[in-house]
Amino acid sequence: MRKQFVAGNWKMNKTVHEAYDLAIELITGLRAVRETEVALCPPFVALTAVKSAIANTMIRLGAQNMHDQDRGAFTGEISPVMLAGLADYVILGHSERRQHFGESDAFINRKVLAALRHGLRPILCIGETLEQNERGETEAVLAQQLHAALTGVAAEDATNVVIAYEPVWAIGTGRAATADDAQQRCAFVRAQLRDLFGALAEEMRIQYGGSVTPANAPEILRQPDVDGALVGGASLKADDFIAIVRAAKGNL
Ligand code: 13P
Repeated sequence: MRKQFVAGNWKMNKTVHEAYDLAIELITGLRAVRETEVALCPPFVALTAVKSAIANTMIRLGAQNMHDQDRGAFTGEISPVMLAGLADYVILGHSERRQHFGESDAFINRKVLAALRHGLRPILCIGETLEQNERGETEAVLAQQLHAALTGVAAEDATNVVIAYEPVWAIGTGRAATADDAQQRCAFVRAQLRDLFGALAEEMRIQYGGSVTPANAPEILRQPDVDGALVGGASLKADDFIAIVRAAKGNL
C-alpha cells in the first residue's frame, strides 16, 4: 500500500520566526498521526529553523525549488548540494515557477535528475491551465509534462519521485477540482507512470493540489488514485493543515 503523503507548500510566506512557530504548532497537532507522511516546505531561509523544530518527529522537510547545477555563478540560486542532508523533498516544476520564472520542461527535467542524484525526493508538479482544460487538452498536457520531466529517470529511482497533479486554474482560486476529476486525472497520471516504469507505478505517490481545504479534503483524499495533497494557502494555518492531514486515508 502506498503511504499517503500530505505536504504544505508555504510559498513566499512566513519569516524565519513565524515558520518556526508554525512548525511547533503543527507538531503538537500531528503527534497522533501515524498513517500519513507529512512534509513542510518553508522558504529556503527558514529550512534550518523548521528542521530544528521538527527534529525527533516523523515530519519531513521539503524545499520549494532548486537549481540543477551543483555550484557556480548562478546568483540567487540554491543547489542540490546545499539541500542534500538538509531537506528530504524538493518541489520542482511548480506552475508558479513555470509561469513567472519561465521554467522549461527541459530545465525541470535536469532538476529532477539532479535532485535524485543527491538523494533528494522530487515532488514534481504538473497541471493544465484553464485554457488548456477548456480546449480539452488536459491529458495531452499532463502526458507531455510528465514524460519530459521524467526523461532519464531510472526505474530504481521511480518510487522516490512524487507527482503532484495541480491544475493551474485551481491554485489559489478557491475552486478545487471535484473529487471525481481529481481521481480521473490522477488515474491518468498513474497510467502514464505505468508506461514509463511498469508495475512500479502502483507504488508511486500522486498528490492532488489546488485549493485543498478541510472541507473538500475528505472527499478528494478518499479517491483511490489520490495518495495525498500538496497544500498551499491552507497549510499556513495550523488548524486547517492538521485537519487536512487527518482527512487522509487511514487516519479517520
Ligand atoms: P493552494 O492550496 O493555495 O491553492 O495552492 C496549491 C499549490 O500551489 C500547492 O503547491
